[in-house]
Amino acid sequence: MDTMWNEIDQYMQHWIREAGERIRDTFQTKLTIETKSNPSDLVTNVDREIEQFFIERIRETFPTHHILGEEGFGDELRALDGIVWIIDPIDGTMNFIHQQRNFAISVGVFADGVGMLGYIYDVVHDELYYAHKGKGAFMNDTPLPKLKETTISEAVISLNATWVTENKRIDPSVLAPLVKRVRGTRSYGSAALEMAYVASGKLDAYITMRLSPWDFAAGLVIVHEVGGIVTNLYGEPLNLLEKSSVFVSKPRLHQEILTEYIMKER
Ligand code: IPD
Ligand code: CA
Ligand code: CA
Ligand code: CA
Repeated sequence: MDTMWNEIDQYMQHWIREAGERIRDTFQTKLTIETKSNPSDLVTNVDREIEQFFIERIRETFPTHHILGEEGFGDELRALDGIVWIIDPIDGTMNFIHQQRNFAISVGVFADGVGMLGYIYDVVHDELYYAHKGKGAFMNDTPLPKLKETTISEAVISLNATWVTENKRIDPSVLAPLVKRVRGTRSYGSAALEMAYVASGKLDAYITMRLSPWDFAAGLVIVHEVGGIVTNLYGEPLNLLEKSSVFVSKPRLHQEILTEYIMKER
């Protein structure tokens, strides 16, 4: 069994860097940009091409595996039985279009719903965050240490300004007191990178109100491997087949934010 995961990992290390190179090569080309559900929900020809790049290789090499991909080239999944790849070809498409940075390729591989491998590739910085369940997490060749706890007043947390202004998912008064207490807030516009940053200690927590499985699948595996906690806003486990709020942090800080801020206002 172990050799199978090592084999998948070897393929993936190779494919993801090749995909990154393909993305970097598009920087000089003209993108085709379309909108999906609303004017800020963007997709480019590159998002589609990169998803197809992975799917072709996975289907060819591992024909029995199932694939869930954001851009719809994968399978229609109703269950997590067997080996399931969850792919976001470009997480942070808006950043990819506007900034040519702050985006990542994000891929998680699950066995009967258990996260086995996770990859988040910051293409521009050539930084690959990855984890193999039980074997540790890495950034390129450097092992990521287990997370160290932080107090709220020393914490740097990531969240979008939307969640502390009028919005349809959460009362602004829930997170505003937390925003005032912490050392600093950040917002990078790529859920995958924000989870990789929590896993590598650059951020102490990440809170957001609505993500899809491909936004958090890889991050879940990597964060777990360094001892971090990944739940929805209310501390419940995430469902890999549904959209959800996401709250990622180190154990003690996660508990403290949950009881002192989020649940207090409920
Ligand atoms: C988006 C990014 C963003 C998050 C959005 C996602 P996409 O992914 O992760 O940070 O706030 O909810 O949809 O669409 O660029 O892959
Ligand atoms: Ca998208
Ligand atoms: Ca995404
Ligand atoms: Ca995407």
